[in-house]
Amino acid sequence: MALFDINVNGQTHQVDVDSDTPILWVLRDNLKLLGTKFGCGIAHCGVCTIHLDGDAVRSCSYPISAVENKKIVTIEGLSENGDHPVQKAWIEHDVPQCGYCQAGQIMTASSLLAQNSNPTDDEIRRAMNGNLCRCATYTRINRAIKTASKEM
Ligand code: FES
Ligand code: FES
Repeated sequence: MALFDINVNGQTHQVDVDSDTPILWVLRDNLKLLGTKFGCGIAHCGVCTIHLDGDAVRSCSYPISAVENKKIVTIEGLSENGDHPVQKAWIEHDVPQCGYCQAGQIMTASSLLAQNSNPTDDEIRRAMNGNLCRCATYTRINRAIKTASKEM
């Protein structure tokens, strides 16, 4: 075990964990930020996606030792009141079905639009490719990203 200082959603936290602990488990178990979900655990499904210095990354596959001095944003910190353009577009298009994958989808989509505010269909497909949805909400996700891009 060792002490790590991490910056999550604008706040610094000190946690005492093994250095190879995936940041996903620090978020969920230590900080009780349960919006970031666990799915495959091997970076293949995208439900655990967070922002690391603005990039969408799989938190199940990033050890805590690799995220010190970086800015972590989770779904809880994406906006103050759930009013990020992507979140608003998600509501407008009624995107979620069971909801399990949706925090990861929103984190990937919001990172894409922060870096490219007017993506083509191809760019959206490429960016969202690793975020799986067992309920197959892909068409609504695509529409919502298009709507959000107009506000970014
Ligand atoms: S749980 Fe991280 S990508 Fe599946
Ligand atoms: S909404 Fe059910 S897995 Fe995506």
